[in-house]
Amino acid sequence: MEYEMQYAQYLKTANDALEKQAEKYFNAHSRVSQAARYSLFGGGKRVRAVLGIAVCDMLGGNLEAAACYAAGVEMLHCYSLIHDDLPCMDNDDMRRGRPSCHKKFDEATALLAGDALLTAAFETLSGACGTPEQNVQAVCTLSRAAGGNGMIWGQELDLAFEEKTADEKQLQEIHRNKTGMLINAAAQMGAVAGNADAMQRKAIEQYAFAVGMVFQIVDDILDVTATETELGKPIGSDKANGKTTFVSLYGVERSREMARQITQDACGALAKAFGDRAAFLQDFAMRLLERNH
Ligand code: IPE
Ligand code: IPE
Ligand code: MG
Ligand code: MG
Ligand code: MG
Repeated sequence: MEYEMQYAQYLKTANDALEKQAEKYFNAHSRVSQAARYSLFGGGKRVRAVLGIAVCDMLGGNLEAAACYAAGVEMLHCYSLIHDDLPCMDNDDMRRGRPSCHKKFDEATALLAGDALLTAAFETLSGACGTPEQNVQAVCTLSRAAGGNGMIWGQELDLAFEEKTADEKQLQEIHRNKTGMLINAAAQMGAVAGNADAMQRKAIEQYAFAVGMVFQIVDDILDVTATETELGKPIGSDKANGKTTFVSLYGVERSREMARQITQDACGALAKAFGDRAAFLQDFAMRLLERNH
């Protein structure tokens, strides 16, 4: 199937699953539920969800389970963005072209909406239609990736280095943790739903961390090259917060070149392990490299 059509199909699968789960957890007329819905359905790209479903499909796995896992990872991602935008973190007033959650509601509500999304993510995984073993593996994968040794560690480092400049190795550690961990978790949960063996999981991991690194490099580039209208979030935020980014270390052109190289290597590694079946994910990585929002 042609890439665009395949992408639209995966996206629909992800959005349908997310709607269904949100109906369960955020249908109350509480302010926190409204805030969670506001953020969840505010125009995210659903990159992590599509990735997980595509990995599962590449393996010929249980797409229904993968869709539930994808809904879980998007809920968790959404929580991370709500908290990331708070005044105590990046202090950004716009997200996805609209006021950030704490601006639309208030800080306490945004904090709680994030907490509720994080919790609902794990309830979603545990109640997914994978086998009990698969669901436990999914919970384990996501909790490890998102916790204090993963995404939270990345966010902690990201904030710590606002006061001082990170070197290349430290910056890679920040990006690998704050962004790569969750992107790899999304891919690995797809691998769980697809019953991947250890070798396949390893190849998927190599690809996913590379995609995660490139995703954050491009995010750093767009923070200086895009317009706020294109991006839907404030530009120049990294500089204003004194962040070390790929752009602050290497400049835009060199960062782009590095991102291109990492993407090429990632695509090569995946093709080696999966041959023609890797075609969609290869295209997916190339398009993330070229994205403008
Ligand atoms: C933004 O993620 C945070 C980063 C890790 C760079 P996305 O760019 O995937 O955000 P949405 O979900 O599409 O808004
Ligand atoms: C966000 O990184 C990473 C997480 C939320 C875990 P950024 O702070 O660069 O993301 P944006 O630019 O606000 O989307
Ligand atoms: Mg941040
Ligand atoms: Mg931010
Ligand atoms: Mg950013």
